[in-house]
Amino acid sequence: MKSTTHFRQECQGATQEVIPLLSEIEQSRLTASNAADPKKKSQLGQFFTPAKIAQFMASLFVPGAKDNCRLLDAGAGIGSLTAAFLERWASGAFNFQRVEVDAFEIDNCLHPYLNQTLEKYRQHLNIAPTIRGDDFVHAAVDSLCGNLFAEPLPRYTHAILNPPYKKIRSNSAHRSALRRAGIETVNLYSAFVALSLSLLEDRGQLVAIIPRSFCNGPYYRPFREYILERAAIRRMHLFASRNKAFKDDDVLQENVIIMLERGAHQGNVTVTTSTDDRFADMEMHSSPFDRIVLPGIPERFIHVPTSSELGVIERSGAICCTLEGIGIKVSTGPVVDFRLKKHLCSMPDAGTVPLLYPGHFRNRIAEWPKPELNKPNAIRRNAETEKWLYPNGFYCVVRRFSSKEEKRRIVASVVSPDRFPDDEVLGFENHLDVFHEERRGLPEALAHGLATFLNTTAVDENFRRFNGHTQVNATDLRLMKYPSRKNLIALGEWAMRCHEPIQRLIDEQLDIAWETEVWVAEAPSHLIHFDGERFLGPYNEP
Ligand SMILES: C[S@@+](CC[C@H](N)C(=O)[O-])C[C@H]1O[C@@H](n2cnc3c(N)ncnc32)[C@H](O)[C@@H]1O
Repeated sequence: MKSTTHFRQECQGATQEVIPLLSEIEQSRLTASNAADPKKKSQLGQFFTPAKIAQFMASLFVPGAKDNCRLLDAGAGIGSLTAAFLERWASGAFNFQRVEVDAFEIDNCLHPYLNQTLEKYRQHLNIAPTIRGDDFVHAAVDSLCGNLFAEPLPRYTHAILNPPYKKIRSNSAHRSALRRAGIETVNLYSAFVALSLSLLEDRGQLVAIIPRSFCNGPYYRPFREYILERAAIRRMHLFASRNKAFKDDDVLQENVIIMLERGAHQGNVTVTTSTDDRFADMEMHSSPFDRIVLPGIPERFIHVPTSSELGVIERSGAICCTLEGIGIKVSTGPVVDFRLKKHLCSMPDAGTVPLLYPGHFRNRIAEWPKPELNKPNAIRRNAETEKWLYPNGFYCVVRRFSSKEEKRRIVASVVSPDRFPDDEVLGFENHLDVFHEERRGLPEALAHGLATFLNTTAVDENFRRFNGHTQVNATDLRLMKYPSRKNLIALGEWAMRCHEPIQRLIDEQLDIAWETEVWVAEAPSHLIHFDGERFLGPYNEP
């Protein structure tokens, strides 16, 4: 067997960007990925990590004084992540004399590739690799909770993983096994991370590439609590482009790479971003932990601030109110169309009331009815539908889903009762979030103020720090901070006078309010009169 130094010398001779064995493994990755049955690929969440990302992930482990390393690769695929880790060791980054590798891979068809990868390194390095074909979830739970018939797993010093992405059904064997280990989660990826963390020894390090969805939303709250109780977040890397990290595999998730250290004191977190896996435009900064997990918010959303500069929302002491404090609620539109199908009408008719879908909102106001919309425009008002309808009035509504091409995640509009002069009540479809006061409309200026505030670039940027997907849930909106009711009304009065101000003006207005601490209605000199898109000069009070 060649020594580590010898192997390192061999590697140093290489001038390619990716060192020789990794580039061979990269070839196997493409072959295995193309050969895989698409159905199985999706069932087992088989998306293999490109070499550059694997190398980056391996680079995040902080070297220590340890002689011995026990590495866990849970859901190892063809072994790209282990390979990157071993490459880093071979390049002299760690002091290990020997590395034991446990590579869990449930799909036997991948074992020949995995074996080939590990064998390549075994010829050069002092490693003891084991391929485990059993289900990682069951093996880990058995080891953590004890099972007479199962082999206990070691406590690992390092874990590197790109876990499978797959929903866990509530009645599945995985779900009950996880419960046994005190882990309540909804996806295999978070289950793999929670279990790997539990299998680490104290101060063990874990690096994982996972979808960003765990950062917010109620379903991942137990998972967030689980990891935050047991580990410190040391590093986070965000790929700015949703589709570039796994471009060969067409993965459209926004991914983060996270580095956790078990049992460590939580200090600042180093956050990096890059557009894609070339890491060419990587930016790095250090964030205090209270910018990552905001204190006092029980949901424990994990924010990924993309720069050390505080955003307007963070800087402004005036944007500190909860929706509850302002006396407003936000709910998902109560009309679920497929449940009330028999009451829906394509166009308004006697006995119907307006039904509003996201498609009814353009230029931030309601356009109704819209025959070309391909959705019902009305809902019958009767004993069955009454409880799903809101009294006609002013509301601020936000689209729950945006497409990935869209620039903004949060798009807010105002519903005005004068668009529906003959109607007592309105139906809001389930793809909208609706701001209301105890299921009634808001004061007009407040509805406009909320929509204007939510449409600022600063709010959108702030929102993206904890929400990596295209869905805007009522819970997310409920947990954000807002200006006071008085200031929202002032902003709304300004917006109403400007007649739908364009984006730049809305953003300027928030900046002005932040800098001067004077909200627009109180600062007439800042008012600028806009007529739709046209700039008409300073606004003069009538
Ligand atoms: C996203 S792939 C990543 C593979 C590899 N770690 C990489 O980075 O290229 C996840 C792997 O986990 C495997 N897998 C899925 N469910 C598993 C389970 N319950 N136990 C062990 N492996 C599993 C899949 O077959 C797949 O190869």
